Amino acid sequence: MTTDSTRTDAEMWDDRYRESDRIWSGNPNVALVREVEDLKPGRALDLGCGEGADAVWLARQGWRVTATDISRVALERAAGHAADADVADRVDWQWHDLGASFPEGEYDLVSAQFLHSMGDLPREEILRRAASAVAPGGVLLIVGHAGFPSWEHEHPDVELPTTDEVLASLELPEGEWEVLVSAEHERIQNDPDGNPTTRTDNALKVRRAD
Ligand SMILES: C[S@@+](CC[C@H](N)C(=O)[O-])C[C@H]1O[C@@H](n2cnc3c(N)ncnc32)[C@H](O)[C@@H]1O
Repeated sequence: MTTDSTRTDAEMWDDRYRESDRIWSGNPNVALVREVEDLKPGRALDLGCGEGADAVWLARQGWRVTATDISRVALERAAGHAADADVADRVDWQWHDLGASFPEGEYDLVSAQFLHSMGDLPREEILRRAASAVAPGGVLLIVGHAGFPSWEHEHPDVELPTTDEVLASLELPEGEWEVLVSAEHERIQNDPDGNPTTRTDNALKVRRAD
């Protein structure tokens, strides 16, 4: 993907999704499943939901999901996957450029999985807004890449903060939040030639007091 100042971020991501019928694996993110499967289902918000695999998985676990992305191409595709999985009535797909607008409401789970972009993404601001959307007793889960894959150049405009840096940038009020997980995990991902390679992700899971 190349950046081009004449294209909006929405157009850039739409073009990225149009490159193929399926960009991501179609499986829910490993970190989401690991960190959420023991939570009691309630209202969930998925930020940068892409093709919707996480939102569909959450809906199948009994969550009522609001899922949002800047790409209408991705959202349309995601809605199709939800219909195929018979959970269309459990997911509200919303278009937002999260730097400019944010879904209404409060949630028992707010999840941001690999919310990275080569576009103009005010990630820290968005994640602070995400924390403010967590209901009392609810969880904020932020999963990101710890480094660029070996087959890609580093992108100087894309920040890949550590969990400590993410936590500091959230500016959570003292005593109101508990850190449940702050860790790096390795995962196997195939490179573009189909060879398995190891990627490192990081996960920050914080819970707002009741
Ligand atoms: C790296 S992908 C991750 C997709 C999905 N969460 C996953 O794990 O498969 C980043 C997603 O963020 C979305 N995105 C980028 N900038 C955005 C913005 N400003 N507002 C909302 N979504 C955005 C992209 O369209 C893309 O679907």
